[in-house]
Amino acid sequence: MSDDRLHRRVLEALRKIMHPDAGKDVVSSRLVRDVEVGEGGAVRFSFAPSPRDPGSLAKEARRVVEAVEGVSSVKVNVQLPQAAGSASPSVPTPGGLVPGSVPAPTPQPGLLQNVESIVAISSGKGGVGKSMVAANLAAAFASRGNRVGLLDADIYGPNIPLMFGQDDRPQVTGEPGKEMIVPLEAHGVRLMSLGFLLDKEQPAIMRGPLISGILGQFLEQVAWGDLDIMVVDMPPGTGDAQLSLVQKIDLDGAVMVTTPQEVALGDVRRAIRMFERVNTRVIGIVENMSGFECPHCGEPVDVFGSGGGERLAEEMNLPFLGRVPLDPRVRTAGDEGVPSVIGAQDSDAAKALEDVASAVLDALAGDGAE
Ligand SMILES: Nc1ncnc2c1ncn2[C@@H]1O[C@H](COP(=O)(O)OP(=O)(O)O)[C@@H](O)[C@H]1O
Ligand SMILES: [Mg+2]
Repeated sequence: MSDDRLHRRVLEALRKIMHPDAGKDVVSSRLVRDVEVGEGGAVRFSFAPSPRDPGSLAKEARRVVEAVEGVSSVKVNVQLPQAAGSASPSVPTPGGLVPGSVPAPTPQPGLLQNVESIVAISSGKGGVGKSMVAANLAAAFASRGNRVGLLDADIYGPNIPLMFGQDDRPQVTGEPGKEMIVPLEAHGVRLMSLGFLLDKEQPAIMRGPLISGILGQFLEQVAWGDLDIMVVDMPPGTGDAQLSLVQKIDLDGAVMVTTPQEVALGDVRRAIRMFERVNTRVIGIVENMSGFECPHCGEPVDVFGSGGGERLAEEMNLPFLGRVPLDPRVRTAGDEGVPSVIGAQDSDAAKALEDVASAVLDALAGDGAE
């Protein structure tokens, strides 16, 4: 087939995908651009994601092009929306939603260019289940067909390796001077954690000074590849490390994890305010370890109380994303390297976490955006 004919067929296939807002297809509305057909049917095109879409459109575009007869490979160059005011004039602004209308913190150019959405999982303090939520959300996103990365930025307590049952040493690729670390992969999620690089016995205090350097390298020198969603397991709290991290990454949103009793302490409020100060949208609050079903009598037992997360959400005018019960299977799943949404799908905890995953995807897609 001639390149021209293949080019037309590729465009034809893409024109069947509608832009979610513009009422036109993705080619006419210029979400898809610069379609090129190279030797042997290698297709590449640029994709400017719509702020209302978390990445499923780009994936659909890739899928339909891959299905075109004569296409041997597809490369999608996803172009992240520009910061406020500098949006490319050719990107349409869908109904009333101005891209970048919330001024973004100044992200470092070139970082994570091939990542469509970045979500931080944060908490006021440690031990509340932040990593558990990060691991389960990442696994849930991946099981729904997204290309997902999980950056364990909690270098004080990097427990993502344990939660994914991965403790290999990552490979390094690239020429000398331009080496890149290859993320490990488990349950369809690309993983990077200081836990992969450090000796397990190294005391946490030694890690402190490494924070900014190491995390910078995780952004710049890890071969993440193209990702639909990057989940960042943040270090708990609101210190300099947390602040510099949220300023460095162009976050699309943050999910706050709290236990019912932590709500009383104010740490979680401070953490929410930190994100608000740097104009990062807080997608909502998850209450973890909320109630416990007695395995003997089946009665719910409020170990730490419950409902605090919901009240906090109300008070701070944020969405409440759900309540994850205290469940021994959540801990054993984590210890065994299988997130509950995969290993204990029928538990209430896994169901709650799946609902949180849906809410986060909806939020990234723009539903509920002001
Ligand atoms: N809902 C839950 N039920 C039972 N155990 C839980 C639950 N949430 C978290 N855990 C366990 O509590 C411990 C702390 O959770 P983790 O996610 O590591 O907290 P953080 O990242 O906030 O420090 C882990 O052992 C984890 O498996
Ligand atoms: Mg943790």
